Amino acid sequence: MKEQRFATYEEMSRQAAEAIAAVVRAKPDAVLGLATGSTPVGTYRHLVRMHREDGLDFSRVTTVNLDEYLGLPGSHEQSYRHFMEEHLFRHVNVDPSRTFLPDGLAEDPAEEGRRYDALVESLGGTDIQLLGIGLDGHIGFNEPCDEFVRPTHAVDLDPSTIRANARFFASESEVPRRAITMGMGAIFGARRILLLAAGEAKLSIFEAAARGAITPRVPASILQLHPDASFFFTRDRGE
Ligand code: GLP
Repeated sequence: MKEQRFATYEEMSRQAAEAIAAVVRAKPDAVLGLATGSTPVGTYRHLVRMHREDGLDFSRVTTVNLDEYLGLPGSHEQSYRHFMEEHLFRHVNVDPSRTFLPDGLAEDPAEEGRRYDALVESLGGTDIQLLGIGLDGHIGFNEPCDEFVRPTHAVDLDPSTIRANARFFASESEVPRRAITMGMGAIFGARRILLLAAGEAKLSIFEAAARGAITPRVPASILQLHPDASFFFTRDRGE
């Protein structure tokens, strides 16, 4: 696992976008594992710029996102589908039919999890997986728990995660209590992992994930075992 520190959010975002662009240039039909949250917004901004200015071509790319809130349709303003459309998909030439997220309206989340894992497997896994990290160490929505969960699965969100994500909703009561997330199997199966963290508040969990004990109490810590994982950190939140 490689750790890199950046002076600014802008610089971290540029480097993350460069890493993703390098994968797409080397393999035009790459499978990109994508993430939501405020942290990767700068990375997406740079990818959009690279598409516009340098002709970075997404026409043969496939994207698979980590997670989605359960109970929200993709058209909902706070759905992760909507987030991805706003920050990346509609600004680049990705084929909309090749952009995948778990279905937040799935009637049977366990079945949806199996379908999603089969999809990722049929694509041959992801070439690069972009990740943020929650204040409690979660990746995707793999919250701290007693054991690492391998398949894509439904989760009850931690009260701290609901509180942290309330900033995107009109009130905390509107934040969905459940989500469906890629499990550690599909995340860890990525050929390359890029985890981003920004801001002083993330420093202690970042260090626990990068150098602390490998434990499902800090879900991101398992990435220490990945053969090609990079952890990027900046104190600058970029606001
Ligand atoms: C959400 C997402 C995670 C993300 C985390 C941190 O809970 N499911 O994928 O990493 O928030 O978000 P932020 O980058 O806004 O701090």
